[in-house]
Amino acid sequence: PQVCWLAPEQTAGKQKPYMYTQGQAVLNRSFFPGFDTPSVKCTYSATVKVPEGFTAVMSATSWEKQKDNTFVFKMSQPIPSYLIALAVGDIVSADVGPRSRVWAEPCLIEAAKKEYDGVIEEFLAVGEKLFGPYVWGRYDILFMPPSFPFGGMENPCLTFVTPCLLAGDRSLVDVIIHEISHSWFGNLVTNATWGEFWLNEGFTMYAQRRISTEVYGLAYTCLEAATGRALLRQHMDNTGEDHPLNKLRVVIEPGFSLFLGVNPDDTYNETPYEKGYCFVSYLAHLVGDQSKFDAFLQAYVNRFKFQSITADDTLGFFLEHFPELKEKGMDSIPGFEFDRWLNTPGWPPYLPDLSPGEQLMKPADELAELWAADSLKMEAIEGVDITAWRTYQLVYFLDQVLQKSPLPEGNVERLSKMYPKISKAQNAELRLRWCQIILKNNLEAEYSKVKDFLHSQGKQKYTLPLYRAMWGGSESARALAMETFSATAPQLHVNVQNYVKKILGLEVAE
Ligand code: BES
Ligand code: ZN
Repeated sequence: PQVCWLAPEQTAGKQKPYMYTQGQAVLNRSFFPGFDTPSVKCTYSATVKVPEGFTAVMSATSWEKQKDNTFVFKMSQPIPSYLIALAVGDIVSADVGPRSRVWAEPCLIEAAKKEYDGVIEEFLAVGEKLFGPYVWGRYDILFMPPSFPFGGMENPCLTFVTPCLLAGDRSLVDVIIHEISHSWFGNLVTNATWGEFWLNEGFTMYAQRRISTEVYGLAYTCLEAATGRALLRQHMDNTGEDHPLNKLRVVIEPGFSLFLGVNPDDTYNETPYEKGYCFVSYLAHLVGDQSKFDAFLQAYVNRFKFQSITADDTLGFFLEHFPELKEKGMDSIPGFEFDRWLNTPGWPPYLPDLSPGEQLMKPADELAELWAADSLKMEAIEGVDITAWRTYQLVYFLDQVLQKSPLPEGNVERLSKMYPKISKAQNAELRLRWCQIILKNNLEAEYSKVKDFLHSQGKQKYTLPLYRAMWGGSESARALAMETFSATAPQLHVNVQNYVKKILGLEVAE
């Protein structure tokens, strides 16, 4: 069941069916027999025969099309099972760099090429400069049908991404930089168990922001990191800081069915990403010199490439690499003990300094303050020109508005009229925030936007927060949730379907 079979109407072109697999975390065991654990790595090859008019792609270092619509794939580097991925559909490709092409349905290929033409190579080159050779040969991108549950999935040689990234202005390229960063952290050096998922995602968030800093500068990168911190805040507020999943090392009890033990997929949340990022930033802070820490990251990749490791390996290597830190007992400064980072739930004890992003965040903070006032100072509000703001500046502004919501009666309606750039946005990150604001302020007049957004895509990180907000809201919000779910359930990934069912108190089949 975890191999996704899509009917033509679930694709962008609506003409031909589509199929794809999503391996991470433990879904590939229903795709092929094997050791479905990230602690084991192997090469693979595959022969895939498809009907006339279809193309198959896989996460493989080489492929060729033979007669009879048969594709032969080989992955010549050892990888963990979760990185084996296949997609079959009416897809075509276009070059966007010397070792990169985009793949998409024919109706999306122009937009896909335009979005990323000429930019991928720079990210790869900066990644290689920072972290060492890119060992995977090609870096291609496959734009998935709208129900793909993730922003991106780092399948080696061929990242799968949501079509929501086609914003027209490259504003969501941080997802691509993130998936490229997995080429070193996750795909080369891999967490040996899903209980230490933060080793993949926390290091990748750090690497993503290092590349982003080199390409886009520190101010912009700090702004993006601040939106990540806001997500962590929201997550911890929702679950409670002390929730056992809010530690970096989580206990995944074995079980024999969905109802016993812990399914690693259920541990997917902001903690491994953003608390993990804080921990890696803390390690960099202990070292105190960016170039020394960069050199450590490169040595770390080189030491553990093609292996699966635990946090103890990582931290042991860190202290070996910086013996002076070990001598000074820097792994056990009270309150910041490595052990506490790993095993205590809660808000990170250290937060990296994001003040270089102040110049971008401050105007957004101030504007949100103005909109939260009981009587609106329209002159001051009109004095702020947001037309030139970057997408992430708007995202940051909306997160502040959301935090202050519900706003005094009538303010959100006026905000909506004043900024069509926000309330009529096509950009998925803006739409998510706008929908959250609609729900938190119970703006029934704009419910249709929530519905339209949930009909247009099925990304888990967009879908679940909106259902949670609807279910925690008014009677009419709950009705909207039920109505939207019964219309869209068949097009959602089965995991996402089950999580929504849980939120809505519906029965989940085993
Ligand atoms: N590997 C993850 C996606 C994933 C995690 C799939 C857990 C299955 C189980 C991917 O690299 C990822 O983190 N994607 C993010 C991108 C974001 C952090 C820039 C996403 O999809 O939102
Ligand atoms: Zn990731």
